[in-house]
Amino acid sequence: MAKGDPMEAKALITMTIDGVQVKVEAGLTVLEAARQQGIHIPTLCHHADLSPWGGCRICVVEVDGAPKLAASCVTPVREGMKVITTNERILEARRTVLEFLFAERNHFCMFCGRSGDCELQALAYELQMDHLTVPSSYQSFPVDVTDDHIAIDHNRCILCGRCVRACREIAGGYVLNYQNRGPLTLIGKDLNALSEGSSCLSCGVCMQVCPTGAMLDRHRAHYAVKGKTKDWAAIDSVCTQCGLLCPISCIVKDDKVLKIEGRFNHDRPDRGQLCQRGRFDFMGSAEPRLLQPMVRGDGGWTAVIWDEALDLVANRLSSLGGGRGGDGVIALASGRRSNEELLLFREIMRQGWSAAQVGVLDGLQWTTASIWGRLTAVHPEPSWQRISEADFLLLVGARPQLSQPVIAALVRRAFFERRIELAVIADEDPFAPWTTHFIRTAAENRSAMVAGVGAAVEKAARANAAAVAAAQIGGFERERNPDPGTAAALVGVAERWVKAGNPMVIAGQGVWQDEAALRHLVELVGSKDRFADGSMRLLLLKPSGNSAGALRLGLYPPPNFAGVRRAGVILLDAPPESDAEVERLVEGLEFLAVLSPYFPATLAERAQVLLPIAHRLEGEGTYSAIDGNAWQSTNRVIQPPIGVRPGWEVLLDLARRSAFQPDCRTWEDLRRWADRQMQPFALQESPDVHFDLTEANP
Ligand code: SF4
Ligand code: SF4
Ligand code: SF4
Ligand code: FES
Repeated sequence: MAKGDPMEAKALITMTIDGVQVKVEAGLTVLEAARQQGIHIPTLCHHADLSPWGGCRICVVEVDGAPKLAASCVTPVREGMKVITTNERILEARRTVLEFLFAERNHFCMFCGRSGDCELQALAYELQMDHLTVPSSYQSFPVDVTDDHIAIDHNRCILCGRCVRACREIAGGYVLNYQNRGPLTLIGKDLNALSEGSSCLSCGVCMQVCPTGAMLDRHRAHYAVKGKTKDWAAIDSVCTQCGLLCPISCIVKDDKVLKIEGRFNHDRPDRGQLCQRGRFDFMGSAEPRLLQPMVRGDGGWTAVIWDEALDLVANRLSSLGGGRGGDGVIALASGRRSNEELLLFREIMRQGWSAAQVGVLDGLQWTTASIWGRLTAVHPEPSWQRISEADFLLLVGARPQLSQPVIAALVRRAFFERRIELAVIADEDPFAPWTTHFIRTAAENRSAMVAGVGAAVEKAARANAAAVAAAQIGGFERERNPDPGTAAALVGVAERWVKAGNPMVIAGQGVWQDEAALRHLVELVGSKDRFADGSMRLLLLKPSGNSAGALRLGLYPPPNFAGVRRAGVILLDAPPESDAEVERLVEGLEFLAVLSPYFPATLAERAQVLLPIAHRLEGEGTYSAIDGNAWQSTNRVIQPPIGVRPGWEVLLDLARRSAFQPDCRTWEDLRRWADRQMQPFALQESPDVHFDLTEANP
């Protein structure tokens, strides 16, 4: 074998499975070896993405004729081993185990929300267990419905422990464990059997691996028995809701999404988990869909054909905007739409109707967006995956549990698995009790606190003496904050920052409006070398799924619209974007057109034309990662409702009626165009933000 051959490292052993001699890799379990040979052995507590457990004994096999059967999922192969995977004795043992599992708890499948999608039930069919030969011994256990998404019915639990391992090994939650002893054993959260009030993030990873109806999706009980056949398709795509682009598998039947699951992948720092939004809120809203183009007349809304609606939009924009110096038209797009749609929208509105103001509905309170866009054009943001390498994390005004829950899971994992220290500067601590340095601060003091850390870092780095920093902060504290513990906490954070070899700052919503805090944070990260790829040590959690794509395209939340505003176009995603803030922006317009997948309840009162467009699962699109340095394409998962078209297609139709004629006719043309635009930063303004970061890292 050639040196460096990948087979070189894999020692092979010879064993016999069901009378056939085979060569398999040393180190495999008997279960893995059998599966490689195409031999089926049933399992329950085993899950390929979790650590081995060996608790249920469903997978027993005969090894070397020994009287005691062995659990194949935890028995390693060895040279000369002889394994029998199926005979009457083995089947009898498996049936006995299964009967006891059914007898110990309440398994009346016809009343169970997982019937039809349950591994335990499927095993009963496989082993032809049509009745119990042992007496039922089940007691009544509680049902926990205090979580909005996941019900836990302990009466259906077989204590296989998959959920416990998944919560720890994939979600990084460390929430679940066994409680009580013997027949009273239950799975519980935080030593408190109820979900409500526990530290559970409702990510549903536990539910995804649960082989029974013990963990139930509250939105979709009984989905598996509807229509009776199991002709499901699994369509892979990525979740675009918060910028982490988590890989998803969409289970679809009859063009309906039955459920969305994470695609586990231990090579990713998040291991392919999904958060609660990606798993449960994939349609984004339960509001009524907009299904036809609508025009408002004297008698209210009337459904019209596409040409009539698009002609009306084009004519009104031309008459109200054209020839008036371009300030007659305003345009706003959701920061959740794809790069292709945002690019097309920007160009149509700018070139087609000379709109001077094209912005993004991206958390209108993100007033520092344009500064951030220009700064990161020169100093790239780090990938969120760097969190898994950091040896010290400082969170400023961030609540990733709400904005990017998988980032919260990574922070928790960093604490539990690597014991790194966490510092938080915020009005409340989202990581208590794991935070090692918590500086409680009101919004008006936030920038001063960050400046205080920076000052202490500067002193500590120069003199390597905390005392110097303490004196500095002491003065700072007397001036600005009466809390006697604050100075010591700031010094603690500064000392950890100085000592850390690989620190990282995560800033959130509390910093969006706070230019001074942002400036001080950039100065602080400038005190350390950058990450190896040249990115800063500062990640800003963004408000929308494709905020980073919008930033790259030079689309910022509008602080306010100046000048004459007579007509507007709004490209929406899912509610609640049509909220009071947006209403205020469109107040007084003579004409408003809204492109939206849903009927835009509040904006509809001010609009004259509504154009239905597809939801993100109903078409392809490219979305940028939260740091803006990578982007991925989604696949169409389901068809849009009849009469509803992809947003890009409607925009292209609108462009044909404008002064802008894009050089693209198909989706592929558009994708290539957007791809070219995303490569370099498409800055609309000169990058005049420096914050001295390059000087700190020559
Ligand atoms: S968990 Fe499975 S086996 Fe138990 S009642 Fe539900 S469908 Fe039947
Ligand atoms: S929902 Fe997520 S965090 Fe909560 S118990 Fe399950 S795996 Fe753990
Ligand atoms: S809740 Fe589900 S995964 Fe957890 S131990 Fe019970 S049956 Fe197993
Ligand atoms: S699957 Fe092997 S012991 Fe449970």
